[in-house]
Amino acid sequence: MRIGILTSGGDCPGLNAVLRGFCKCAFNIMKDVEIYGFLEGYAGLINKEYKVLTPADVENILDLGGTILGTSRQPYKLMTVKEGDAPTKLAQMVENYNKLKLDLLVTLGGAGTHKTASLLSVEGCNVIGLPKTIDNDIYGTDVTFGFHTAVDIAAGAIKRIRTTADSHSRVFFVEVMGNKVGWLTLYSGLAAGADAILIPEIPYDEEKLAEFIKTKKQSSRSVVIAVAEGVMSVREAAMSKKERREYLSSFGSATAAERLTAVMTDKTGVQCRSTVLGHIQRGGEPCAYDKFISTEIGAFGAHLAKVGRYGVTVCIRNNKLGYNMLVDIAGKTKRVPADGQLVLLAKDMGIYFGD
Ligand code: F6P
Repeated sequence: MRIGILTSGGDCPGLNAVLRGFCKCAFNIMKDVEIYGFLEGYAGLINKEYKVLTPADVENILDLGGTILGTSRQPYKLMTVKEGDAPTKLAQMVENYNKLKLDLLVTLGGAGTHKTASLLSVEGCNVIGLPKTIDNDIYGTDVTFGFHTAVDIAAGAIKRIRTTADSHSRVFFVEVMGNKVGWLTLYSGLAAGADAILIPEIPYDEEKLAEFIKTKKQSSRSVVIAVAEGVMSVREAAMSKKERREYLSSFGSATAAERLTAVMTDKTGVQCRSTVLGHIQRGGEPCAYDKFISTEIGAFGAHLAKVGRYGVTVCIRNNKLGYNMLVDIAGKTKRVPADGQLVLLAKDMGIYFGD
């Protein structure tokens, strides 16, 4: 069996652990397996750039951050765009899949990667997706690999902010990644004891947030607020995309936490600061939980390959491995339910969500 494998989109801890889990299991449970590791994500398949992986290549990579194959962003919406006489990227990938006589393509990636994987599957390629992302926004799975390591990193950072905020009696907005969803902010904010958690799924009211800060400041030295990078105020959420772009550009290149710091300093008169955690949340060794699920997701993917279960992506639901059809989940986003149990319990504890 000839298998292509690639890591695509933003990296995260656990990619190498999944590569290891898949390859080790595939080499063990199937005969005559060849694995072509495409370099730099879908770009490797488009340009036919690959490295044949041997058991030795994946032997000592369980703990290693990043991806030994390299990755890149190849926007889904450009996959079917024609430039002059050249074939589309999608057509090039299908052609190379056929030229290399692949029996299967395994894609380790997030939401965008899954949309392209679904396209390839519709075009006749045999595809198995494996769910990666620190954002945890892939539809149909409770968890993605990389998410829990990022939660650990973000929670650790927020905890550190608390002591300096206490020393100086300050308000801090700590910005957490997560793209357009609030999972990473919600989990890390809860794990770090944040006073407020602002997520895209619950637009915040500027006046009420200012009141919360002023009131909280009367009883505590510091106020630590976990802010999702994609958060919006009620006012911003009500704007058209064009209006919002114009409004946000009035803050220059300021991020969500930086804008909040400016607006809330103005409204409350309290000294506010911001910290943007950024790519540190994606770097380094996976946590033990991510090593564990990465290993089982990879090995389960190899079993799906063995039985020829294609056009699917692996998921974990209620702690059990399973799979969804790519066409059923591609293009859908798993958001934090604003009235879900987790948010309601946090609110009952007095954690403020900005609404
Ligand atoms: O999807 C993962 C993610 O880290 C998001 O949380 C973030 O919005 C984005 O990627 C950052 O992308 P880049 O690494 O291309 O700056």
